[in-house]
Amino acid sequence: MTILVTGGAGFIGGNFVLDWLAQSEETVVNLDALTYAGNLDTLRSLRDKPQHVFIHGSIGDRPLVEKLLAEHRPRAVINFAAESHVDRSIHGPSDFIETNIVGTFNLLESVRGYWMGLSAEDKQAFRFLHVSTDEVYGTLSPQDPPFAETHRYEPNSPYSASKAASDHLVRAWHHTYGLPVLTTNCSNNYGPYHFPEKLIPLVILNALAGKPLPIYGDGQQVRDWLYVKDHCSAIRRVLEAGRLGETYNVGGWNEKANLQVVNTICAILDELKPRADGASYAAQIAFVQDRPGHDRRYAIDARKLERELGWKPAETFDSGIRKTVEWYLANPQWVENVASGHYRDWIDQQYGQIA
Ligand SMILES: NC(=O)c1ccc[n+]([C@@H]2O[C@H](COP(=O)([O-])OP(=O)(O)OC[C@H]3O[C@@H](n4cnc5c(N)ncnc54)[C@H](O)[C@@H]3O)[C@@H](O)[C@H]2O)c1
Repeated sequence: MTILVTGGAGFIGGNFVLDWLAQSEETVVNLDALTYAGNLDTLRSLRDKPQHVFIHGSIGDRPLVEKLLAEHRPRAVINFAAESHVDRSIHGPSDFIETNIVGTFNLLESVRGYWMGLSAEDKQAFRFLHVSTDEVYGTLSPQDPPFAETHRYEPNSPYSASKAASDHLVRAWHHTYGLPVLTTNCSNNYGPYHFPEKLIPLVILNALAGKPLPIYGDGQQVRDWLYVKDHCSAIRRVLEAGRLGETYNVGGWNEKANLQVVNTICAILDELKPRADGASYAAQIAFVQDRPGHDRRYAIDARKLERELGWKPAETFDSGIRKTVEWYLANPQWVENVASGHYRDWIDQQYGQIA
């Protein structure tokens, strides 16, 4: 048996592939375009594992995807591939339209062609799982109930609009063509192998480097935080037992303001790796101008996933954030390769020059 994972050299996809192969002998074909966010260093431990087949390429490349599907005959496709950083989508939205919308469309069409050619039994067993975000629901005020799956779509950034569009395409491919799809919308992930453009790794690494810890606006933007390994277990569970055509929200039940997250990280670092001058890392906090259109609050109601499929996160924010800080302290080489850009050299060595 085989599954096809797209975007498996990114943060969540990489964790998913590592977790999958730690628990299963089922082959993973990993299709990733290796944009700046793709990092094969994350998958270094799988180098000699025949159950991991890495393919450098894009979800939008129909001939390539069709060839892969025909050759490997996966029983499921899990789509993590995306442009994922809101700030980058504000500065340059076109890659987001290209990958998240056009790319998902092309992937759906390739998969539909493959699925239609399967035997009745394989056709019924096949799954297309699309990984999406809570940002498609827009923003909440402090008193609003958290986002349920029935919340209307109100995306506010080019990133969330492009993800919303991809969710609609996935939904339509189910309703129109019968493709057996599942969609998950999750909150902010954190954990090992997170590219340091995102808040949590950025703060850990800037703190250790003695640099300012930038906080947008007043730091009171609230997010729900989901430990990445909990997200991976939720995806495995939805893949296994999710109802076709359904959407499942995945959250950690951990609403925190950004400033609170940063203060927690500083407190853990103060304990595990105190500053030489004895001051707290919190002294490095620096408030910077807010992001345009910054959503104020996201919160996830993950009760449907618990009720229907019995999934609950294993980590609290306190346990997950401690594991995360410990992981960054224990893996300076991975961090150094990312920070210096050397992970790109390593990819080039392995796979030739990448545009
Ligand atoms: N990180 C989060 O907190 C979060 C929260 C909610 C939803 N999501 C969603 O989860 C998914 C994974 O997020 P992530 O944080 O791991 O992102 P990431 O940016 O770390 O990784 C994305 C991966 O996709 C690859 N990729 C980009 N374009 C591609 C293409 N055209 N074809 C093949 N591969 C391509 C990149 O090389 C990279 O390896 C995304 O769909 C994202 O929208 C992420």
